[in-house]
Amino acid sequence: MTSMTQIDRAVKSIKERIGDRTPAIGLILGSGLGYVADTLTDAVVIPYGEIPGFPVSRVEGHKGNLVVGRLDGVCVAAMQGRVHYYEGWTMEEVVLPARVITRLGVRTWIITNAAGALDASRYAPGDLCLITDHINMMGANPLTGVNIDELGPRFPDMTAAYSRKLRSIAKKAACSAGLPLKEGVYAAMMGPSYETPAEIHMLRTIGADLVGMSTVPEVIALNHMGCEVLGISCATNLAAGVSAGKLSHEEVKETADRVKDTFEKLVRATVREIHSEINL
Ligand code: HPA
Repeated sequence: MTSMTQIDRAVKSIKERIGDRTPAIGLILGSGLGYVADTLTDAVVIPYGEIPGFPVSRVEGHKGNLVVGRLDGVCVAAMQGRVHYYEGWTMEEVVLPARVITRLGVRTWIITNAAGALDASRYAPGDLCLITDHINMMGANPLTGVNIDELGPRFPDMTAAYSRKLRSIAKKAACSAGLPLKEGVYAAMMGPSYETPAEIHMLRTIGADLVGMSTVPEVIALNHMGCEVLGISCATNLAAGVSAGKLSHEEVKETADRVKDTFEKLVRATVREIHSEINL
């Protein structure tokens, strides 16, 4: 069980390292986007293993750093790498880093991920999509157990889990940067196996447009804490049964890699626009 003491201990250890930097925006950098954190200026890089209680990915080659620095002049806290529920972490462990960073004073979050697209007539691999809402199919929720009232309410509202205001800011940023941006509802599955065609059929029927294995736990925990959240998916592939071929992690990585410059431009433009529109 996560406790306030555990969270406070991690917050204290980060504060000791970041000096007077006060991050205003939190970034969770999904598959293929982690390098954005390498471009921060005046940055402090803290490996997750050096922060008390932070989960460290068991998957080899996965970077796990908290990078606090400036992105085009805006102080951000970037999670370079995240852990997933399918790795065997508890939901509480999955959301702990986001909770700790929020306690540093971050109220605004940008969360990115790779996702499968459910409708070939509306999406193509490589499309960047704003998440408008989600469907939690993971069979678990990070808020089960005793509620920590200091963090948020027992029954948090999820009506605007993906902030309308941030979505309109992101659209404006994308438009001025000339970057196409689609929208969709994201369904989160536990994974790690990809879905069957029958599962994809079910997800389409219940109103999903995109499918992935991350993001939803953090979005729930951050809404619990009263944060404004923006979610952006890179549609890396057509979901199982939507196209003739088989799914592979290689395809997901290849597409994420192909559009990473565009993805970075979108994240940067959005951070700048948030900074100029919201008095951070
Ligand atoms: N399904 C689940 N997760 C994913 C997919 C998918 O098709 N693509 C990228 N992450």
